[in-house]
Amino acid sequence: METCLSQYRQFFPDPYYRALADLVREKQRFLDHPTGNFLRYKNIVSQIPDFVPSVKDVAAPAVRAGTAADISQKDRQFLKTQLLQLAPWRKGPFDLFGIHVDAEWRSDMKWKRVAPHLPDLAGMRIMDIGSSNGYYMFRMAAQNPLFVFGLEPQSAFYCQYLAVQKFVDQKNIFCLPAAHEQLPRLDACFDLVFCMGILYHRKSPVDMLKDIHKTLMPSGYIVLENLVLAGRKNLCLFPENRYAKMRNVYFIPDLLAMESWLLRAGFHDVRCVDVTPTTAAEQRRTNWINTESLEDFLDPHDPQKTVEGYPAPVRAVFMARA
Ligand SMILES: C[S@@+](CC[C@H](N)C(=O)[O-])C[C@H]1O[C@@H](n2cnc3c(N)ncnc32)[C@H](O)[C@@H]1O
Repeated sequence: METCLSQYRQFFPDPYYRALADLVREKQRFLDHPTGNFLRYKNIVSQIPDFVPSVKDVAAPAVRAGTAADISQKDRQFLKTQLLQLAPWRKGPFDLFGIHVDAEWRSDMKWKRVAPHLPDLAGMRIMDIGSSNGYYMFRMAAQNPLFVFGLEPQSAFYCQYLAVQKFVDQKNIFCLPAAHEQLPRLDACFDLVFCMGILYHRKSPVDMLKDIHKTLMPSGYIVLENLVLAGRKNLCLFPENRYAKMRNVYFIPDLLAMESWLLRAGFHDVRCVDVTPTTAAEQRRTNWINTESLEDFLDPHDPQKTVEGYPAPVRAVFMARA
């Protein structure tokens, strides 16, 4: 990780770089700790041979490395077994040596909603907060940004990223197994920050938006995707306990409240560019997850409601400038 980070030294002012390098060293110690999930997942990744892919395509809806003809049937079976041990695969799809990793989420559908509204990513310094297995980082990388810096604290997802990156070997992306709030001060280090599917997990969403604002260059962009309520009454849902069986959901704003949060955090040119209810076409149980999915989170008698009786998930995408 430290070697990977050192390639980005020139892009961060010296004190910021040193603080980042300290965080990387701390994370490396954590990864190497003999107990805990990280080591188990890391071992699974390290057992995957260095198969050489004849093709790579990070612009494809199913991010691709290799074809079925590149490796033997036996090797493909082994690779599939290893990848399945990294489940649940939440984000995807990926196509690795002919293995279709049919993740729970059709992340290509969200990308299709977001991509038409993005500025030209070429030459940009980008951060992707909550990058999961890197699906969107790979898709961004296809547009030649200077770099995409991902943050993903969950060991299984971070190790899925390592497994895919082993074959895709995309040079302009880098991921750290850390949470956003663990980052050192990185004022004005990014041109664009993606914050997708995170804000409703935060107890203090406006503080998070303010932190993101600080890390952006003046006029830099935020791409924010969040659970919302579909109205414009400046109201917010605060689930009493769980929302769609998720324990860690705090504030779900309506569209006007979301815009107000962005404005109060210092952003301007706030635009809501998409509002889409989540359906089973986008989130569903597949062989690549070992957990429940959307249909288990909705009221079986009224799919407009979650099992707790709240409005069913609707997600919106906002663009704004620092
Ligand atoms: C709902 S998923 C969204 C993933 C992806 N950004 C997307 O839009 O599909 C949330 C991801 O953010 C990660 N995450 C949760 N809290 C985080 C935090 N404080 N900092 C960074 N990542 C976080 C989770 O581990 C998970 O992979």
